[in-house]
Amino acid sequence: MTAEDFILKSYHTDLQNGTVKWASPSNIALVKYWGKKADQIPENPSISFTLSNCKTLTEISFTKKEDDGFQFDVYFEGEKNEAFRPKIQTFFERIAVYMPFLKDYHFKIDTSNTFPHSSGIASSASGMSAIALCLMSIEAQLSEESNALSSDSAYFKQKASFLARLGSGSACRSIEGELVVWGANESIKDSSDLYGVRFTESVHPNFKNYQDTILLVDKGEKQVSSTVGHQLMYGHPFAQERFKQAHDNLAKLKAVLASGDLEAFITIVESEALTLHAMMMTSLPYFILMKPNTLEIINKIWAYREAQHSKLCFTLDAGANVHLLYPEQEKENVLEFIKNELVSYCQNEHYICDEIGLGANQI
Ligand code: DP6
Repeated sequence: MTAEDFILKSYHTDLQNGTVKWASPSNIALVKYWGKKADQIPENPSISFTLSNCKTLTEISFTKKEDDGFQFDVYFEGEKNEAFRPKIQTFFERIAVYMPFLKDYHFKIDTSNTFPHSSGIASSASGMSAIALCLMSIEAQLSEESNALSSDSAYFKQKASFLARLGSGSACRSIEGELVVWGANESIKDSSDLYGVRFTESVHPNFKNYQDTILLVDKGEKQVSSTVGHQLMYGHPFAQERFKQAHDNLAKLKAVLASGDLEAFITIVESEALTLHAMMMTSLPYFILMKPNTLEIINKIWAYREAQHSKLCFTLDAGANVHLLYPEQEKENVLEFIKNELVSYCQNEHYICDEIGLGANQI
């Protein structure tokens, strides 16, 4: 597929109005996307677990209009929200060529998250993928091209992921589950820079219902956004080596997912998390998103793993929060460990229990 294949060429606008609704999950990367080229093309491939409980619910109502330009209103948790407007405006500008009907309708975008807004959890992946899916459902009603009609079709999902990527890179990995790869690479057949593809290679039962408990260390606004962080990979002294490492780690992870070797899984996942933050610390300007409690938690995890012969490990996204990844059979013990030893490092003792999930749902 090329970007041109996603241009809607033939559509009608007889439809006066309608409403569509999707729930789309967040995802957590195992091999991290950090660094991008123009048009949200990643510098390296990434792979993520799709989550199950952390979701954005988005309803879009559309009404036919006459004048030119984009028209939309955004509501967050029932209240009109101006803060999200610029990101959505940019998103509409980027995707207009693929969805020419965007200027024919006024859109009311009503959105809410299943996780607390102030939790510091990145909502751009779930939020942008939910909007992309809603717009695809509208396209399916207007399209005169048969390939876009069903939300189960490969084209529908691919284009939803393609659009979501143009909203926020990592959002393209939230359409499907349980593992999604984004970025062209040699290990995964049909992988693409343009959209995420479901990881269809063999996955060992060790990873069934894999758990992700998110410890909320810092719920505040980040000092440096992901978008700025990505840009700092331009001219970064270690960039090329890092991009190569991501390809290697993806190849290794593919083998580990098949064999169920949890020791090797831990090594790749924790190394990826620390490398991501090492890139931040060695860019110019340099910055640190981890907090003292992030490090306290990491050290506690290492001590627990050693003492309990556990397969618990951590990963980080672009922030201070810690994702604890572990097999389902360790759930009871790990939750006990969190309650006894880790909640004191969380802001307001707050953490969220999630697990690997199947992707977005139309409601
Ligand atoms: C560290 O997808 O949030 O979470 O494309 O600029 O919206 P933009 O960035 P974003 O970056 C996410 C980076 C990451 C790693 C990952 O999810 O792969």
